[in-house]
Amino acid sequence: MTRQPHLRLLIAAAALAGLTWFGRPSRGVEPGGVQIALQTSARTSDSGEASSSAVSVDQSQYVGVAGCAAANCHGRDGSRGVLGSEYSIWIQDDPHARAYTDLFNETSQGIAAALRLDKPAHQAKLCLNCHAPQSDPPFDGPVAAHGTLLDGVSCESCHGAASRWLGPHVRRDWKQKSPAEKAEFGFRDTKDLWVRGKVCADCHVGEPGRDVNHDLYAAGHPRLFFELSAFNANIPAHWSRDADRRREGSDAASSFEAKLWEVGQVASVEAAVDLLIHRAKSASEDIPAFASGGDYPHAETIAVWPELAETGCFACHHDLSSPSWRQSRGYAGRMPGSSPWQSWLTPLLSDVTTQFDGGSNPVASLASEMAKPYPDRTAVVSLATDAQRQLEQLGQTINQQKLSSDQVAALLSRVAQHSPDLAAQNWDAATQSYLALVALHQGLTDARGNRNGVPEGHDRGINNRLEEVLGLLAFPAGADSPGSFNADTTQRLQERLQAIQQSLSSGR
Ligand code: HEC
Ligand code: HEC
Ligand code: HEC
Ligand code: HEC
Repeated sequence: MTRQPHLRLLIAAAALAGLTWFGRPSRGVEPGGVQIALQTSARTSDSGEASSSAVSVDQSQYVGVAGCAAANCHGRDGSRGVLGSEYSIWIQDDPHARAYTDLFNETSQGIAAALRLDKPAHQAKLCLNCHAPQSDPPFDGPVAAHGTLLDGVSCESCHGAASRWLGPHVRRDWKQKSPAEKAEFGFRDTKDLWVRGKVCADCHVGEPGRDVNHDLYAAGHPRLFFELSAFNANIPAHWSRDADRRREGSDAASSFEAKLWEVGQVASVEAAVDLLIHRAKSASEDIPAFASGGDYPHAETIAVWPELAETGCFACHHDLSSPSWRQSRGYAGRMPGSSPWQSWLTPLLSDVTTQFDGGSNPVASLASEMAKPYPDRTAVVSLATDAQRQLEQLGQTINQQKLSSDQVAALLSRVAQHSPDLAAQNWDAATQSYLALVALHQGLTDARGNRNGVPEGHDRGINNRLEEVLGLLAFPAGADSPGSFNADTTQRLQERLQAIQQSLSSGR
């Protein structure tokens, strides 16, 4: 596998930092010919696939993107701004539009072969539930009853299955309806940041029926490592980013970035906890046929227990050396050699909660149970259910507030203060603190209204240091992991992070 997903995120994250100073990311248009060729072959192979499994009557169904693409609906050419051109922006520039066709590429074929799937990736629900969903959960709809697979991750994947809202949403009274009334038609309110965070996390972290587990990773799937504010900035917006901010009131720009970051932290962990509950409850005790040489169970998603992908990847995947910097670093309260649960998603959760209840960690007990070699499944379900309830409450509380610039500045300085410790833990925690600093600082820079969004003086200095941090986090050429992450990298990261912290507190 030659792709470097992590590196790509980091580059993408740099683009986030540069969103307003270097202009928007360039438009990467797919060569049309390739897409059309794929579409033809896909149509042929899907035609025999219409499955007989029943769709429950009260569940909304997907109608397909064709219903949105007309020039007088969402298919304008963009010359008069984004409004009305949502389809055109998505089909030309949005990576989601090629999520299905990517299931034909070499990496996907390699994954299907390594897993010994009994059908190609582009027909396996295991992949389609995220790359070309045909229904909202619980995914009991038929595979490709109509040619909507080609849409990949399209309008309905985020805005909700449209069979019941397509008609009503073009009527005049639709705009008068409240989000709750719209939800009754199966329409999701993506303006609501908590809803948005959960929608993205359902695929980018996972949920029951959508599971990139270690089997898929070991077979070659790029690592999922989601952070809402970076990912939100990295899809070409088919909506007005200004309108997104304006909803936040007086300190709109800083409040928006900070809330999006906070909500993203909480929504991601909530999704991981949801998936954990599912695995703990329904993973079979039997060793799947796969282990003894059979096919992967019918290319449907399965729950595996215990699931390696819940542990930080680089806790297992690293060199062995003596003396080891990990031994001198210590294990942050864990037993030496135990598993760090969700090291990508959880390190900054206490920074989010400080504002509300002095920095409690809603997943602390769950993480200790999960750090045991054989976590108790019943205990896990009970701890996780409790954590999920707290996370849901926290997400909604954050969502309801509007943050002043002063509050955001306080949050930024808290994260900056914490970041040298996080950088000492591992690459995951270091990178999450980098992304947090970028998001929070970007919001404040925007709020200060620097001319053309170009950061000046002090802001520019902080941006330069953030770029140095990024340089230290990037993977070495040809590697798919931070191979050289060690005591030396840690120290250099800490120096830069401390400089950022000082610069923030002195205002220089
Ligand atoms: C139905 C599942 C699904 C949902 C919902 C979803 N995504 Fe994605 N997303 C994907 C898949 C699959 C890909 C990979 C597409 C490809 O390249 O083949 C992707 C790719 C991306 C990428 C590009 C990543 C990269 O490394 O280049 C970004 C950014 C992104 N999504 C952001 C978001 C955001 C923000 C949301 C919520 C508003 C969201 N996604 C909702 C499935 C989803
Ligand atoms: C839980 C949802 C989910 C499932 C299940 C899933 N994927 Fe993905 N896949 C994603 C997301 C999200 C991305 C984008 C990752 C990123 O860049 O952050 C992605 C990226 C990819 C990519 C890289 C796309 C590129 O840009 O080249 C390939 C290839 C891929 N997936 C293949 C598969 C195959 C094959 C399967 C089934 C065996 C599968 N995926 C199952 C969510 C999923
Ligand atoms: C990856 C998730 C995702 C996909 C796919 C997606 N959208 Fe969106 N869409 C959003 C988000 C997030 C917003 C911004 C919040 C909002 O205005 O609802 C948005 C906003 C919009 C808006 C603006 C609403 C307003 O009041 O300004 C329209 C219209 C829209 N999308 C239509 C579409 C259409 C049509 C498609 C398919 C061609 C599509 N979307 C695909 C996530 C998505
Ligand atoms: C508890 C230990 C453990 C954790 C945690 C773990 N892995 Fe693995 N991984 C393994 C083992 C064991 C193998 C099989 C190695 C072999 O067969 O030589 C493996 C194999 C792989 C492979 C196959 C290629 C290779 O270089 O070995 C990839 C890719 C991979 N893991 C990615 C990941 C990712 C991504 C994560 C985090 C989401 C992760 N792993 C977490 C133990 C782990």
